[in-house]
Amino acid sequence: MDRITVRPSGPLSGRVAISGAKNSVLKLMAATTLAEGRFRLDNVPDIADVTWMAALLETMGMSVERAGQTLTVDHPPDITAEAPYELVEKMRAGIVVLGPLLARFGRARVALPGGDDFGPRPIDMHLRGLEALGARFESSHGYVTGHSDGLIGARVVLEFPSVGATENLLMAGVLAKGTTIVDNAAREPEISDLAAFLNRMGAHVLGAGSSTITIEGVEQLAPVEHVVVPDRIEAATFLAALGVTGGEITLVGARPDHMDVLCEKLGGMGMRISPDPDGLWAMARDRAHSVDVTTLPYPGLATDYLPLLVAMLAVADGVGIVTENLFAGRFRYVDELTRMGADIRTESHHAVIRGVARLSGAPVRAHDIRAGAALVVAGLGADGETVISDAHHIERGYEDLVGKLTGLGADVVAD
Ligand code: UD1
Repeated sequence: MDRITVRPSGPLSGRVAISGAKNSVLKLMAATTLAEGRFRLDNVPDIADVTWMAALLETMGMSVERAGQTLTVDHPPDITAEAPYELVEKMRAGIVVLGPLLARFGRARVALPGGDDFGPRPIDMHLRGLEALGARFESSHGYVTGHSDGLIGARVVLEFPSVGATENLLMAGVLAKGTTIVDNAAREPEISDLAAFLNRMGAHVLGAGSSTITIEGVEQLAPVEHVVVPDRIEAATFLAALGVTGGEITLVGARPDHMDVLCEKLGGMGMRISPDPDGLWAMARDRAHSVDVTTLPYPGLATDYLPLLVAMLAVADGVGIVTENLFAGRFRYVDELTRMGADIRTESHHAVIRGVARLSGAPVRAHDIRAGAALVVAGLGADGETVISDAHHIERGYEDLVGKLTGLGADVVAD
């Protein structure tokens, strides 16, 4: 799939199943490097990043098989503690194998992730945290190589609640000697999912979901079965689509408790949302009202929601000011929305969006996963045809976005 064509769509209606979270499953797959044996993951989304992470585990000597939503990972006695550039470059989450490989094997060689359309993606906090546990690093030829003679638990205070750094420290701390404390830890639901997975493997992790995580190291872990948490960003994508088209939908399997601040914000824009026995129910009747939006680490509004909310604000009633606090360079999609007639001005990490009554369909380009999804959302509320190129970015993080939207009555076609 390299192009998606979107035509204006009437009110959405019906039920849509929310897949497992990309940002959780990739880390759970990395955690399978921590113990020998057979793991089983359920509710695994069929997305390109999972395929790349499976390829990464396979280059290390593991084998990965998919049957429907189930992934089986076989970890043999010997694996190679190395993550090559070709795979880390495609899927930057590959850096989270660094902590578990170091903890398990005392050495790891992982390609340095490059920048992307959000701007630079540094890993200094990952490295400083692991150094506090006794690891030593050197960088050369685009790779970071780590060594340790056995990690030793320590207290690490993160400068910022980085999701990736928290995950690397969690997966290193579980096999370190003694107690590791991560302060100013990231609190995302995907961190809690990883901690639950590790605890099921026999780890002792306390406090995941809060700012202080305490890990008592153990000698050995064992393989387990686990069901991946639902993808709150995918759920937000359908809510943004509803905000543009109006209608009434149920997000089957969504976790409203993972999306409190988003639901509050969408409520302020005029959407009715409530928990449902099956997940989350939402209804939008009138044109959305503009609101201001600021991204923050969880439980604040996720940066990954922002392009979707900006697509909604582009056709909302009034003026909204949005502030992106996590990735300063994350506004490239705004140029594409402007080509569709949106009235948006950006200044540093702020954007001022004056809602217009209607966008106008145009050829546009998806620069990353959420930017691509935001253009699909915008196309639903635009006159004429919106043709999104480089749509393969969307497949990195969405299982069958086109099919799911079509099931809700949208006019969306992939080719
Ligand atoms: C994860 C998510 C991504 C989401 C982001 C923030 C995955 C696969 N990706 O990315 O979708 O947008 O969380 O919620 O889970 N930083 C440093 N040094 C570091 C690490 C991070 O300066 O060593 C900075 C980053 O540049 C960024 C901020 O910290 O400005 C947050 O990044 P982080 O939370 O680490 O994001 P990721 O884990 O890469």
